[in-house]
Amino acid sequence: MGQSTSRRRFLENICFGSAGAAGLWNMASMAEERAPQTKTPPWASRPVREDDVGTVPTAAETAWEPVSDRKLRVGIVGYGVCQFGAAFGFQDHPNVDIVAVSDLYPDRCQALAGACKCQKTYPSLEELIQDDQVEAVFVATDAPSHARHCIETLRHGKHVACAVPAVFGSVADAEELHETVRQTELTYMLFETSCYRDDCHAMRQIYNHGGFGKLVYSEGEYYHYFPTPLASYKEWRTGLPPLWYPTHSDAYYICVAGGHFTEVSCMGFRSQIPHLAADGNRYKNPFGTEVALFRTSEGGIARITCSWDTPGLEGEVGRVRGQRGSMTGMTYQGLQENLPDLKKPPLPPGMSAGGHGGSHGYLCHEFITSILQKRRPLVDVAWALNMSVAGVIAHESALKDGELMKVPHFQSV
Ligand SMILES: NC(=O)c1ccc[n+]([C@@H]2O[C@H](COP(=O)([O-])OP(=O)(O)OC[C@H]3O[C@@H](n4cnc5c(N)ncnc54)[C@H](O)[C@@H]3O)[C@@H](O)[C@H]2O)c1
Repeated sequence: MGQSTSRRRFLENICFGSAGAAGLWNMASMAEERAPQTKTPPWASRPVREDDVGTVPTAAETAWEPVSDRKLRVGIVGYGVCQFGAAFGFQDHPNVDIVAVSDLYPDRCQALAGACKCQKTYPSLEELIQDDQVEAVFVATDAPSHARHCIETLRHGKHVACAVPAVFGSVADAEELHETVRQTELTYMLFETSCYRDDCHAMRQIYNHGGFGKLVYSEGEYYHYFPTPLASYKEWRTGLPPLWYPTHSDAYYICVAGGHFTEVSCMGFRSQIPHLAADGNRYKNPFGTEVALFRTSEGGIARITCSWDTPGLEGEVGRVRGQRGSMTGMTYQGLQENLPDLKKPPLPPGMSAGGHGGSHGYLCHEFITSILQKRRPLVDVAWALNMSVAGVIAHESALKDGELMKVPHFQSV
């Protein structure tokens, strides 16, 4: 493979999601399918992949129904390496009018304007949020700026959606963001892509239906091999502590059960890769892989992993095991006789589900409809911070060689 092809594939993987997660999931479900079954026990496997769902009409087969004919006036900021500003389908949503865009780099700003078919540009987020026309902003800037950018946007009276993570290594930023959402009473949503992967969505429906009982054990993993740092604004990705980027993994507990973590012990692997050595990055991070064991608010256990220094299958993957059933990929095995509808609901015509397991369009749609319906979005500030801060504490525990540490809990506001 030529260097440019491999680099392109690498960028596609990180920015739009790799086939790796599907690969991991397929291996797991293939193993189950291969297992010989002599009789059908009550906990037998019930595959719920699209081709196996059967005759029950699903939401996806029903037509999309608008909740309003109002167009929300949206501003979009950030068109960096992943070109995320235009990746979630705001420009295709029937309830959205993109009224302004911004990136610090003029060429990126123009490209974002073109991708969003928007005339008005601003040289920075700080200037865009002064615009009274803008009612809501999608923040797709560098991760270290997320908390500050979202707080500023909320303080200017605008709803905000943000790329992950919600905060970057700072519990104080999390507290300030939480307080700002509480005070402003505006909508905040985190665009955590694992949350709307097919399996995570289906697990959530089954959990809410009682098909798992309490989650006894869950696992979430995110694997991305970074032998050299990937380009990013002010090199924020160089030496990034793995579990400062926890949300793709811990979504497989928090976005399934809606719970949170109470304590954590985490171990790290001291990486041989230069930018992941303590003297090779600004974070003094010595780890290329971190594995955390969390106690959950239900009394269960979650193993959450993030790895930058292990080549192999890449992507995000998760599994859950509960008192009444378990699920890997789209295969439920358990005591629940009747499963709820597991398909994701229809999107507005012309909107694509998009990258990262068909999650992008759903995140955008949820943000917009939650504002129109004046309700909390699925990944609200509590889920966002419970996912993000858990990783900050886990990294602290890893630096203390696995010391058991308390994890703060953020409530919905
Ligand atoms: N699966 C996922 O959810 C997923 C995948 C990839 C990236 N991401 C997240 O998406 C975000 C963007 O990723 P990226 O690789 O494009 O980042 P990047 O660092 O390459 O680009 C960030 C962009 O933000 C712009 N920016 C920074 N401050 C600004 C300001 N004040 N005003 C206007 N523009 C400003 C910069 O000019 C830059 O172009 C990151 O936070 C990343 O964590 C999430």
